[in-house]
Amino acid sequence: MHFAMPPRKTSRPPPYAVRNARSSFNPQYLIPRDRLRRVVLAILGFLAAVWTLRWMFGGGGEIGYESAVAGSGAPVVIVTVFDEKADKGWVGRVKRNREEYARRHGYATFFNTTSNYNIKTSPLSWSKVPALRHAMTLHPTSTWFWYLDSTALIANPSVPITSHILSPAKLEKHMIVNEPVVPPDSVIKTFANLKGERIDVVVTQDREGLSVESFAVRRGEWAKYFLDAWFDPIYRNYNFQKAEGHALEHIVQWHGTILAKLALVPQSLINSYAKGADPSQQGHYKSGDLVASFPGCDKGGKRSCDEEMKPYFEEIEKRKGAE
Ligand SMILES: *[C@@H]1O[C@H](CO)[C@@H](O)[C@H](O)[C@H]1NC(C)=O
Repeated sequence: MHFAMPPRKTSRPPPYAVRNARSSFNPQYLIPRDRLRRVVLAILGFLAAVWTLRWMFGGGGEIGYESAVAGSGAPVVIVTVFDEKADKGWVGRVKRNREEYARRHGYATFFNTTSNYNIKTSPLSWSKVPALRHAMTLHPTSTWFWYLDSTALIANPSVPITSHILSPAKLEKHMIVNEPVVPPDSVIKTFANLKGERIDVVVTQDREGLSVESFAVRRGEWAKYFLDAWFDPIYRNYNFQKAEGHALEHIVQWHGTILAKLALVPQSLINSYAKGADPSQQGHYKSGDLVASFPGCDKGGKRSCDEEMKPYFEEIEKRKGAE
């Protein structure tokens, strides 16, 4: 099995591409109207029964959490998972960075540590997926769950992610269509003509592929399916070079139903690279961008997130004083 291979181009359109194709098939010609109605009613009844049972006995999905808490009603929950071995002072600063932003716009935050998620021997970065699922059960009345990695900062707290990026109109305006999911030459391209209100996942792409440092998921049944599909043990054990990042690219390319819910937005909207991007590229951080991201600053070696973020923390403080 080789999961990393992008799907091959085929002359036959995939089944999900029939959205616009007008089918000449009409079941009425095959089944008498009355019987058709009875079949449809039976199917609807069966689905209703399944849903009721699921509702009564809980999701029972692989990442099941009991929802007990009444939600905050915040439109956005910012989710960040920290490595428990990380420097406490730095963790505190990064948490404050989100909390101040959240307070300003009426959002909520959700923090936890990697060790609280049972990801066994897979890379710790996988913990973002169950953490999102966890946050969704703790905030059952919130809409958007924005995963913002500990390696990224909110650099311009005056920009509300809701009205500036996540509103249906803004998503329609910003989404990048007909773009290879994995640059430069994946044959699977982002869909055109998607409605903003149907979008459930908002991601960005850097030079190498989809980024998992900053992305948003809309809570709902579909989100549960998406996160469970992503967290599949097969992918966790597959040893993708970029762990959950490559697994995401895999499911997005292979499942047209996921691609049909996905908006690829310009990196500068939610994921500008303060470090590691070519300054001439559009993903590079410039003053005023919502997020400054430092991908890989937590990987040790010569790098330190705290050191790299210091000037940005200072700029944010300065700006606060000037407002
Ligand atoms: C973090 O996760 C653990 C395990 O699920 C849970 O018991 C704990 O309450 C969580 N912490 C927060 C702050 O939500």
